[in-house]
Order: sequence, then structure tokens, then C-alpha cells
Amino acid sequence: MRRIGILTAGGDTPAMNATIHGAVVRANQLKVEVFGLIKGFNSLFNPRVPHVHLNPLYQEIPEIDPTKGGTMIGSSRDFVDPEKKAELDLIASRLERLGIEGLICVGGDGTLNGLQPLAERLPTVLAPKTIDNDLGLNYPNEPDEWARVKDPEAKGGFHYVHRASQAVFDLEYMVNYVTPGYATAVFVSAGGVERIRTTAESHRRIAIIEVMGRHSGYIALGSAYGRPDAILVPEHPLDLEHLVDRVKQLYDLQKNVVIVCGEGIVDNQGRELGAETKTTDPAGNIALSGAAEALRHKFIHMIGDRYFQLYRRGNSAREAIFTRKVGHTQRGGRPILFDRFYAAQLGAKAVELLLEGHNNSVATLQYDSKKGFYVDGYDANRFRDRWGYIHARHMYPAFYDPNLMKPSRIGIDYLLPIFSDAIGEDDMEYMRRTLFSQGNLAQPYHSINTDVNKRIRYLEPAVGQTDAEVGTPTDHLAQHSHGLTAQASIQDKR
Ligand code: F6P
Repeated sequence: MRRIGILTAGGDTPAMNATIHGAVVRANQLKVEVFGLIKGFNSLFNPRVPHVHLNPLYQEIPEIDPTKGGTMIGSSRDFVDPEKKAELDLIASRLERLGIEGLICVGGDGTLNGLQPLAERLPTVLAPKTIDNDLGLNYPNEPDEWARVKDPEAKGGFHYVHRASQAVFDLEYMVNYVTPGYATAVFVSAGGVERIRTTAESHRRIAIIEVMGRHSGYIALGSAYGRPDAILVPEHPLDLEHLVDRVKQLYDLQKNVVIVCGEGIVDNQGRELGAETKTTDPAGNIALSGAAEALRHKFIHMIGDRYFQLYRRGNSAREAIFTRKVGHTQRGGRPILFDRFYAAQLGAKAVELLLEGHNNSVATLQYDSKKGFYVDGYDANRFRDRWGYIHARHMYPAFYDPNLMKPSRIGIDYLLPIFSDAIGEDDMEYMRRTLFSQGNLAQPYHSINTDVNKRIRYLEPAVGQTDAEVGTPTDHLAQHSHGLTAQASIQDKR
């Protein structure tokens, strides 16, 4: 292979540029050209395929910075529809005309589903990323444990149920132990929990802090490093009575309580607390809003004003119980050392997989108690259930103790290898040197997009193709309503 493409898809993470960096460094060594495709799968739907040559003369362009969060080539949640065969053929021919012989998609479970039909047209591999840590398998035969149930209201007419595990669990058998982006998200969330604690202590309040992760409780689990009093994860239905008892006990003892909840927590009927107002993103995922707020309302109702008045710690439950979302701060900014290091290795591994002739393969980060972490390749087909669908990984339920509402012993064993050395000295030094730099006050922010825009090139029309046939990005986006307005796309490209 002389030229490959790379794209970054789905929600951004702090480690995507590190993956691009790792891929380009390895490609330089192997004398392979790398084209960065702009804004994920969106670039493939665009007849002009906006792209950037990331390594002219086999040297990285200076905009590639593994310490910078987000993705320099942009991302989107555009979705590849396997039923649109003609469109997929068009994509393949566009890539062929660009001279791209293999494709790396940096993404999560949605991206891996999306690249399945592409892998039938050109060699394609996945380099994983997601703060949710939900791309992977807790044990190799996990896909066989999914059952599907007819449900006219669900996307595709079915919903899926995960049956109880039949495997003897072992950390070393996990497929893709951890995804780049997760460690930084936990770093930010745990720090947020610590900071909120002091307000809760000072003002005798109960804080409910919501973290991301969709239906996977891995981020909530990791937030244990910030020492909340209780953690709630989507994998275990909420036991409200037990929680309220524990909250009262703690409030009596220490005059404050801090609770972390994953955004996807469910009640004992399996209903998502945060999805009371349901919306979906372009890929059809339910956008969760407000699990913490929903829980606060339940507390207000169950604990009541009188409780706080008796303690002389506030006039009302509304005043005493507050919520905060860690929000997108957990998804952005500088990646910590663990994420940078392994994201780069996974990017390099993805290049190797392509060059070794693998297709529809995933670069994975494996764990061995003697060797530590190492990268490997895994056949994407083995991530699919028997209907061909790739599910987001849930947190392995036994990592959590529902009685203590904390990580279990095995959950602690899971977290330790990731976090014991996750922060580099340079991470702290960077903050010390840069945050209060005088230039931050005097100079406007210079966005990476400004520099990358100058490097964007387009696919030339094929011989004999008229401009009308090629279309413009605007025409094209008017036809594809991937949740983007044409106006937004024009602004984005210029
Ligand atoms: O999948 C990553 C993630 O950050 C989830 O944890 C979260 O639910 C979702 O994306 C938020 O998406 P958006 O940034 O599109 O609101």
C-alpha cells in the first residue's frame, strides 16, 4: 500500500490527535502516504472528498499534535447506511480515484458498525477511541449473549437484551481492555468530584454529579478516584430506598453527601431516568438529558424539606440538594499520558494491520498481568452478534458492588493498571507553565481549524464528469440530512 486514508468519527475524545500522530509516524517509517479525511464519514458522502495530506515527503505536518485534544481533521456523527449500496459504491470509487488503498477509521462501536459495509469494498481497520470505554468485549464470547426482541418502537424494529454471562471472568481475556479517551475523562470527572465535595461540605449540601458514558458505567466507576460517597451505574437498576437510607446515614454523620451517577442509570423497571425527554442524534442514539436532575426530584420528594429544617441545615430539600454535570469538559482538552501513549500505539498498529493485509480488523489494547499493556489486532467480525450488529460494551457488572455503591474488589483490580501511572509529570508541568501564561490574556485563541483549512484539498472531477454531476458540498449536504444544516457545513468548510 502506498497511500491510506484516516478519518475520525463520532464524539471527539482528548486522544484522537495522538492516534493520528501514531499512525502517521508509523506510516512515515513504512513510506506510506496518509490522507486525513475531513469530518469523519461526512467526507466520504461529499463528492469532493475534502482531505489533507498529513505527511508530504513522509514528514508529519506540524498541525499534528498528540498533546492536543479533539481531532485536527474534524469529526461528525454521520452514519454509513449498509442498505445504500449505490452510495457505498460511489464512496469506494471516490477513494480509488484519490489513490487510497486502505482506510483507518478512528472511532467507537458506531464507527465499527459503519465501517462494516466499507470493508467489503476496500481494506478498512478501526483504531478505537471513546471516553465511554464501550468499544470492546468484557470476554470473547460476549456477542453470543445478546438476544433480540421485536419492538416496533425501537430503531430497526428490535431491541436487544444481554443475557447473563456464561464466562469465567478474567481481566486478561478482556478484548480491548480500555479505549483511549477514557483515562482523561476519568481524570476530569474525578477532579470535578473532589472540587464539588468542598462546596457540599461547606454548605451542608447533597451533590449529585452526572458523568457521561451513555449505557456504560465505566466513567462513573472510575470517578471513584474522586471519592464520592456513592456511585450509580446504568448496569445496576437504581435501588432508591437503599440509596436514600445511605444518604441519610451519611448526612447525619458528615453533613454532606456526594453522589456520582452515570447518565444512563435506570430504575427497577429498566426505564432511563435521564431519558424522560427523548431525543436522538443523527445515528439514532438516544441523547440522554438529566439523570441527576431526575434523581434530585426523587430525593426532594422522598427526603422532604422537614428533614433539612430539623437538622437546621437549610430551609428546603430543593436548596440543599444540587446537581452538576461534568459535561463536555470530560471529553475535551489535553489527553493525560496514558491516553496519549496508547492512542499513538494503537494508531501505529492500525497502519501495520492494513499493511499486513488485514481487513475489517480492530487494533486493540490488551492487558497481561506480567507484561502490562500491549497492542494487538482482533477480527471485527468477532465483535458482531449473530445478526451482525456490534453492541456498545457495558461495564462488566461485577466491577461494581451494588450494596456499597462503589467499585468491587475486581472493579478496583480493573482500574489499577490503567490509573496507577496515568498522569505524566509533563501533564502537571504543562498546566503550571501554560494556564496563567500572559499570552492567554493578550492574544486571541488561534484555532487549529484555521491552519488545517489552508491544507484542505479536493478530489478533482473524473474525466468527462461535469461540475453538475460532481455536485458541490452544499448540494450534496442538502440531499443528506445527517442532522447537519447546509449552512453549518458551508461555514465549517470555509
Ligand atoms: O459517546 C461519547 C459521549 O460523550 C457520551 O458519553 C455522551 O452521551 C454523548 O457522547 C454526548 O454526545 P454529544 O456531544 O453529541 O451531546
